[in-house]
Amino acid sequence: VVMDVILDVDPGVDDAMAILLALASDEINILALTVVSGNVPLRSGVDNALKVLAFSGRSEIPVYAGADAPLVRAPVHAKQVHGETGLGNAELAPSEREARPGASEFIQKTLTTHPGKVTVLAVGPLTNLALAERIEAGTLARAKQVVVMGGAANEPGNSSPTAEFNFVGDPHAAREVIQSRAAVTLIPLDVTHQVGIPAEEIDRKIRPMGSGVARFFCEMTDIVVGLGREAGGYVGVYLHDPAAVVYALRPELFDVVEYWCDIETEGELTLGQLVVDQREGLPESRRRGVLTRIAVGVSSEEVLGLFRQRVLKG
Ligand code: BDR
Ligand code: CA
Repeated sequence: VVMDVILDVDPGVDDAMAILLALASDEINILALTVVSGNVPLRSGVDNALKVLAFSGRSEIPVYAGADAPLVRAPVHAKQVHGETGLGNAELAPSEREARPGASEFIQKTLTTHPGKVTVLAVGPLTNLALAERIEAGTLARAKQVVVMGGAANEPGNSSPTAEFNFVGDPHAAREVIQSRAAVTLIPLDVTHQVGIPAEEIDRKIRPMGSGVARFFCEMTDIVVGLGREAGGYVGVYLHDPAAVVYALRPELFDVVEYWCDIETEGELTLGQLVVDQREGLPESRRRGVLTRIAVGVSSEEVLGLFRQRVLKG
């Protein structure tokens, strides 16, 4: 069965990898890429989406430009991780195409026209999704499912002590999406931190492959690998956004539990935190937030294997 997918992205190194994985997966029919401000400003993200499609020979897929700022907070980007352009040190040929305007309108119209049929895969801040829901309440609940890379449940954050970048990027949007009663599954850092390609593998196996896609992968990941070395962190690259694509393809590779949760929208230290109500012995009526599916475990080797096989072909 082929699933119709709207892929909402802020490319971004691992967003580009998620796009490549979705393109390489016959089970997925990408209806459009919708782009949001996040890792880089909207304009750069749109350019990168167009370039990655052109690089893959798939320029027939529409790209919609979406929100250039979060709902409430000021924009935050992550150029220190993703590079000045958003694609690390990779330089792809410019695309001759223009993006279309109106990402959130496209999401709203598509879900409304095909209720129950379309999977939304969101791997950036959730502004475009929240805006679609604001056009018409109930929009997101018409998706077959909404898979979101975001949050840190029982894991420290990566953008602040307690919060993950996409939820820090637009905490209010994340909250509106969680509260939309859509069929949301979160793929948080708890899972994506178990799905990484170490620098040693990049140098020993991927760089020598010599293919265009292998070169693109290595150039994109240079900066993040360097940062990991300097900071004494993970020396390699986490496949955050590709993990969400794999969830859509092979949900059985993930352990998913339902938790009551909400997103912090005011905390000075905790803005954007995914707050999970795990209090012992509390009746459901007194729990905070909304019951939400959250992936907490993953068969890492299988996920990595699928990525290597489909994207790197090796
Ligand atoms: C998320 O933030 C971005 O840096 C990545 O593209 C991913 O979507 C990980 O926290
Ligand atoms: Ca992303």
